[in-house]
Amino acid sequence: MDEPEDIFDEEELLEDRAEKKFNSDLDELEKTNIDYKRIKNIDQSKKRAVIESVFDERTIFHLNKILVNGPLKRIEGVISAGKEANVYLAYDLEEKEVAIKIYKIDSNTSRWMRKYIIGDPRFKKIPNNISKVIFLWASKEYKNLKRAYKVGLRVPEPLFIKNNILIMEYIGFESIPAPVLKTIKSPKDPVNLFNEILTFIKLLYQKAKLVHGDLSEFNILYHNQSPVVIDISQAVAIQHPKAEVYLARDIKNIFQYFEKLGLETPDPTDFYYDVINREV
Ligand SMILES: Nc1ncnc2c1ncn2[C@@H]1O[C@H](COP(=O)(O)OP(=O)(O)O)[C@@H](O)[C@H]1O
Ligand SMILES: [Mg+2]
Repeated sequence: MDEPEDIFDEEELLEDRAEKKFNSDLDELEKTNIDYKRIKNIDQSKKRAVIESVFDERTIFHLNKILVNGPLKRIEGVISAGKEANVYLAYDLEEKEVAIKIYKIDSNTSRWMRKYIIGDPRFKKIPNNISKVIFLWASKEYKNLKRAYKVGLRVPEPLFIKNNILIMEYIGFESIPAPVLKTIKSPKDPVNLFNEILTFIKLLYQKAKLVHGDLSEFNILYHNQSPVVIDISQAVAIQHPKAEVYLARDIKNIFQYFEKLGLETPDPTDFYYDVINREV
């Protein structure tokens, strides 16, 4: 394993400390009231107001801190509002676009996330606390992105993580985010696209030692006529007991998508064995 993954004990300790600090910082804010003005500023914009209404106090606090101390300058509109997380377009201090994904602190979400984390050898201790499970989930997405990015795979570069807030490279042109593959009726060169995605699956497994686990046309952005894979939080290490089941499912989804486009696809089973590098 290329990085210490059992950092959760330490993370938990840091979290407890952060919680105490958070409470005292909040008192401090209450006293000065300066930073609350920023939050009110966010309220003035209709698009940004959603940030206020969707997230808990602690998330708002950290968002505010990110806006005051960096790395962000401002948060613009919502790119996507999902059940578990919202994604926004934001700008860093150099006015460069970034994407910010904020997980909602929700007990139902944390319940199924916990199930997913059990069995991943990278996470030894599963927290009981709802927010901590969600923070662990967000940090899992950050780490998975990092692992994939490090081996040269086309995923958004992870830039920053704090609790349930993940900042990553923005995929799109100016304020127009790249579309998900699902919405593309006829990609320009489907054969090439198909091969690029197959190469991605193979290298993710063989080099990053991960299986995406939710790979489909819904989690691939189409940018510059090339695929950029997103939403990698549920990805598991190849040692995970279900890694090969997830791999088979990912392969099935991708083959089905391209078959629907009318492409002649090879035998998915051959590809599966090619990925895991084993004789049939
Ligand atoms: N880095 C990014 N750049 C541009 N758009 C993004 C980025 N990450 C996510 N999105 C957009 O946000 C949507 C939701 O993101 P995703 O990570 O798939 O979360 P979920 O499916 O869990 O809600 C994507 O379908 C895509 O449209
Ligand atoms: Mg998704």
